[in-house]
Amino acid sequence: MAARVTIPEIQRRKTEGRRITMLTAYDYPFARIVDDAGIDIILVGDSLGIVLQGHATTLPVTIDQMIYHTEMVSRAVKHALVIGDMPFMSFQISDDEAVRNAGRFLQEGGAAAVKLESSPSMLSRVAAIAAADIPVMAHLGLAPQSVHKMGGYKVQGRDAGGAQRLLDGAKRAEDAGAFALLIEGVPMAVARDITRAVSIPTIGIGAGAACDGQVIVLHDLLGLFDEFSPKFIKRYVNLREIISTAVTQYKDEVMNGQFPSEKESY
Ligand code: KIV
Repeated sequence: MAARVTIPEIQRRKTEGRRITMLTAYDYPFARIVDDAGIDIILVGDSLGIVLQGHATTLPVTIDQMIYHTEMVSRAVKHALVIGDMPFMSFQISDDEAVRNAGRFLQEGGAAAVKLESSPSMLSRVAAIAAADIPVMAHLGLAPQSVHKMGGYKVQGRDAGGAQRLLDGAKRAEDAGAFALLIEGVPMAVARDITRAVSIPTIGIGAGAACDGQVIVLHDLLGLFDEFSPKFIKRYVNLREIISTAVTQYKDEVMNGQFPSEKESY
């Protein structure tokens, strides 16, 4: 297995023009699979509120839940950079609380960095966390924690004013000390312009191919979550169907006495 992925390595990729791969994972078995596949960054995303916990939004997810999942993921990972996602109300109140909670991801969760949804009013949080030597990724564009303010999960930066605000926000996040940007749900031309305008790497989700790297939610890629499916998702396998077939077969074999056979008995 290759050496551990570091923040400087991720930043070098931009200058070298080598793409960055990132996926979410929330527990030990999936984190092992993702890590063994050689993915560069594993994000313990607050998307777990939707794909694991069954909520309609990420808003109910707590800092303690995020630390619990980050710790499981960190225990599995030998290669990837692990990033913990700061949940709603873990950083909004003050810079001090943001630093304290970011620190928990490293100290208790074993992560190497944090990510937060950084609207312009949250840039001081990025600066405060970075000043505490905690690497921080700023999340721009469609910000799921702002679902009510946005009036739904809507593509951002579609008009010239919105695109300019995103570009300004990206530059300000870089100036505040973010080591990378996550750009979600913006037109590909806007993501391309941001990627060209900043010297830190950009990781896109629903932001086109011009970003320095790509991220997707693991349960979407695997076909484990089918309750809604935005245009940017590519399902590489239908695990839900495969698991359902196996579970049904087990049920049938118990019912008709085929399982356990002598082979599975002492
Ligand atoms: O929580 C999450 O999984 C995210 C996605 C945008 C990758 O932030």
